[in-house]
Amino acid sequence: MKKLKLGFLASHGGSNMQAIVDACREERLHAEPSVVISNNHDSEALKRAKNSGISGCYLSTKTHPDPALLDEQILHTLQNHGVDLVILAGYMRKIGPKTLHAYFNRILNIHPALLPKYGGKGMYGIHVHEAVIASGDFETGVTIHLVNAEYDEGPIIAQCRLPVLPTDTAQTLAGRVLLRERQFFVEILNSIAQGEIELPRQGAV
Ligand code: GRF
Repeated sequence: MKKLKLGFLASHGGSNMQAIVDACREERLHAEPSVVISNNHDSEALKRAKNSGISGCYLSTKTHPDPALLDEQILHTLQNHGVDLVILAGYMRKIGPKTLHAYFNRILNIHPALLPKYGGKGMYGIHVHEAVIASGDFETGVTIHLVNAEYDEGPIIAQCRLPVLPTDTAQTLAGRVLLRERQFFVEILNSIAQGEIELPRQGAV
């Protein structure tokens, strides 16, 4: 079976990306990391790409001030690396229309909560966990979903749940959720690579 080629878009740490790269290297996941694109030239994600021998690309509104050209460049970079599946691993930008169209139903995002709760603009990083704690919810979780033109709104592919402990702060919750995210992303990609989870047809509307 052909290995799935993965392209990553990441803005900061890239610890989810690293977990996926490690799983590929250790043959726990039948996939191949092909390229890492970041809008932040100083990101840990680009350093991780370099250390892992994966092509890294800095593409941002600074390198491409015209949003349409930036979108095209991101798309060309993914296509030039033969990417089958795009992974948003902490990517803080919207995906442009050309990339969305070409990779329709083939772009996955991970979110540290049970969408549709605690998603959308401004719901990132610690803000998500602060909102969960403030709500008094007894559980939170991780969502992996397909990406569309809006933040955190595409069809949900998989979710897992985690308890919110009475002693939790936003920080302790963030740490526990992030640990679970790294495992869960690998589990779900494995199910996709094995055909146990079938993504909707690429290009289907
Ligand atoms: C994760 O919490 C993910 O859910 C969100 O961004 C964070 C990225 O963390 N979309 P990392 O860069 O993978 O460490």
